[in-house]
Amino acid sequence: MTTPESKTTLPLVHLGITTPEELSALFADLRGRFDADCACAHDESSWKQFRDAWLGRKSGVLTLVTDNWLKPATAELKRAVGAGLNELRAHVESQIEARRVAIESGTEASALRRERVDLSLPGVHRPVGSHHLIRQVFQEIEDIFVSIGFSVVEGPEIETPYYNFEALNIPEFHPVRDDMDTFYLELPSSSDKNTAKTPLLLRTHTSPMQIRTMEKQKPPVRVIVPGKVYRRDNPDATHSFAFHQIEGLAVDTDITFCDFTGTIEYFVKQFFGPSVKTRFRPSYFPFTEPSVEFDVSCPFCGGTGTAASGGTCSKCKGAAWIELFGAGMVDPAVYGFVNYDAKKVSGFAFGIGIDRLAMLKYGIDDIQVFFQNDVRFLRQFP
Ligand code: DAH
Repeated sequence: MTTPESKTTLPLVHLGITTPEELSALFADLRGRFDADCACAHDESSWKQFRDAWLGRKSGVLTLVTDNWLKPATAELKRAVGAGLNELRAHVESQIEARRVAIESGTEASALRRERVDLSLPGVHRPVGSHHLIRQVFQEIEDIFVSIGFSVVEGPEIETPYYNFEALNIPEFHPVRDDMDTFYLELPSSSDKNTAKTPLLLRTHTSPMQIRTMEKQKPPVRVIVPGKVYRRDNPDATHSFAFHQIEGLAVDTDITFCDFTGTIEYFVKQFFGPSVKTRFRPSYFPFTEPSVEFDVSCPFCGGTGTAASGGTCSKCKGAAWIELFGAGMVDPAVYGFVNYDAKKVSGFAFGIGIDRLAMLKYGIDDIQVFFQNDVRFLRQFP
């Protein structure tokens, strides 16, 4: 099959072209072919191929026209061939350049389209954390006590035996120390031979802050102390070697046992709801006299010991009461350690185990979840 461009490989005489009319029809065919091919060059590589096919020095169509049509043309046709070739060249060159510009701007447009920032897309979601449940319970309890005139103080987690035990009326070899076995810290040996080594330990309770507060401040004192405490307990569902307490201390010249129980009752009702009842039972702590243990009527079964299903309440195990925390009137012996006049002042103290309270209130059955930081647990308490 002879295509218009394949005819450029032969001299005009071989093609049987002898008149200017035939020649211009031949050029028109070739131009038509060029226009059709030109529209097919869509990208840079097909455009390059197309350009070389028409303008290539060695075997481009225009070179072939020059070599095969113009050069061997008869004298009568030479002018016309030259004119036709010039016209075709001008057309080819301008169209090829126009095509290049079109392809380039098209590539640019598609690149722009590709790289455009779509402001309507949703952003990268960074989850915002929340307060740990223990912190939330601290906050809840702090709010209750702050609303009745207590202030919040915090103290060191590394303590001396003096504050953790002795000043709280727990001398060395006192049996309650057995319950509060803790972590003692090995101190780096000091180069200064004169500094007597004070042993240090991780506090077993927040009670040392009773002493530190009273040392710093004359009565009236009304403080609560949230914080972390440590004991050498083996971890299980209800024991952890680190846990949390809130200590409370109120000392003034006229604080009675009624103030004490009234304050505790107020707190418990605020925390568990107005329908709960409180009771206290005699107990023992070296730094309070008398000492008590506070119970709350089971908030889950309404203090009946029977669950809604008719069975035994699983929270209070049918007892109708739940043991809450220890407390008492400050033992006068403690005032001796802080230079308070035991004849003039009186007060009460309490120590609330926060983990236990949080477990009770939020139905958690394993204390370990507070320390594992598993987001599946944490997310349940946003
Ligand atoms: N410190 C005690 C403990 O950790 C709890 C306690 C009991 C604190 C009675 C008190 C209190 O302030 O009065 O076991």
